[in-house]
Order: sequence, then structure tokens, then C-alpha cells
Amino acid sequence: MRRKLVVANWKMHGTISQNKVLFDEFKKRLNSINNVDFVVCVPFPYLYQAQQELSGTNIAWGAQNVAKHAVGAYTGEVSAIMLCDFGSRYVMMGHSERSLAYCETEDNIAEKFVIAKESGLTPILCVGETFQEREAGVMEHVIASQIDAVLSYAGASVFADSVISYEPIWAIGTGFSATPDQAQSMHEFIRGKIAKLDQEASETLRIIYGGSVNPTNAAQLIGMRDIDGGLVGRCSLDAGNFEKICQAASVLVA
Ligand code: 13P
Repeated sequence: MRRKLVVANWKMHGTISQNKVLFDEFKKRLNSINNVDFVVCVPFPYLYQAQQELSGTNIAWGAQNVAKHAVGAYTGEVSAIMLCDFGSRYVMMGHSERSLAYCETEDNIAEKFVIAKESGLTPILCVGETFQEREAGVMEHVIASQIDAVLSYAGASVFADSVISYEPIWAIGTGFSATPDQAQSMHEFIRGKIAKLDQEASETLRIIYGGSVNPTNAAQLIGMRDIDGGLVGRCSLDAGNFEKICQAASVLVA
């Protein structure tokens, strides 16, 4: 049985003082929920603060991006080893807000996935299609290609105990989430694709959904068979909303 996973993606929000308030609230509100895994993905400069505030709690932390190289002359990049130095357990890669704005290729993202895994981090691979791609009916083809990039680098076994986040680009930050059926259908497609190559890996792979998750739609989305949790943007900046989403996940497995 896969444990549900709720990840807060704080994106480029926060200051030391604002984070302190949110960390305190998260700790207080999530402290008693012990049947769901929680992660906060913070901007790089706040990893130290996350480590100080969250060590010894039931909330893990991580980053929103990682360098594809282990070490070297890569100005401005942050390596997986550095993330581990600050106690990170998770790292995201491939989020559309990065891949579109900074021209990240599927190959780049795959390299990040592999180096994260090799460093002992749990990678959260973000995949998703545009509205036009969904309208054209090619969304599965698009998602398959994003996953194939990782498969060709590292094979299917690398997905064991990893995380894929299905985030339709049209649902991110718009207030319009995918319907539970639309999301379930894509999650089933993703799991089936991995299962054909490695059944065991497909069973421990957690596939979470992101894109306008809120307290109202969380239970229905996370209640679907192949939806193992959520990646939450806007509603993770409000402790009350985030708690409600986490509670919804918890009730489903209670
Ligand atoms: P929103 O929850 O704000 O739509 O953002 C989703 C997202 O991008 C999570 O990574």
C-alpha cells in the first residue's frame, strides 16, 4: 500500500520571517497526522531554515530544482550533494514554470532525475501537457515522451520509490483543476507505462496530482485509485488551506 504524499511547493515565495510563521503553523497543524507523508519544497536559500525548523518533525523538506551535474564550474547551480547537506529528502525537477521559462529539455530534466536518485534524494518528476495539447488529444503522447527521457537514461527500475507529479499546465495557478476522472485516467496511463517495463517499480512509484488543488477538490482527487497525493502551490501558502488538504488525504486512508 503506497502512503499518500502531500507536497507544498512554495515556489518563489517567502522571507525568513514569513516562513517562520508558516513552519510553526504547519508543525502545529500536521503534528497529529501520522498516516500521510508531508514535504515542503522551499527556495534554495531557505533550506537551512527548513532544516532548523523541521528536523525531528513529521514534515520533510526539499528543493524545487537541482543541477544535472554533481560538482564543478556551473555558476549559479545547486547540486544534489548540497541539497543533502541541508537534510533534504526530496527534490522537484521539470516543473513547467521552469522548463518553459528557462528552456529546459526533457533530457536535462532526466539527468536531474537520475542524479537526484543517485544522491539518495527522492525525485519528484513533474510532467504535464498544455491546453492545446489536451485539445488536440495528444496529452498521453506528451507525457509518455517526458517519461521516456528518464527511461532511456536509467530504465524503469529508477522509478521505484520515486514520485511523478502529473501537473497539467492549464490547471496550474488557474483555479481550474483537472477533474478527478481526467487526472485518474492520466495517472493510470503513467502507472501502466511503467508497469509494462517493471511491475514492482510501478507499485512503489507514487503519482501525485498538481494544479489548483484546494480544500474543496482535494478529497475527490486524492481519493482516486492511482492518485497518491497532491503537489500544492497557492494553497500551501496558507496553513489553514494546506491543513485541510492534508486532512482530506488522511481521512481517505484512515
Ligand atoms: P497551484 O496549486 O497554485 O495551481 O500550483 C500547482 C503547482 O504548480 C504545484 O507545483
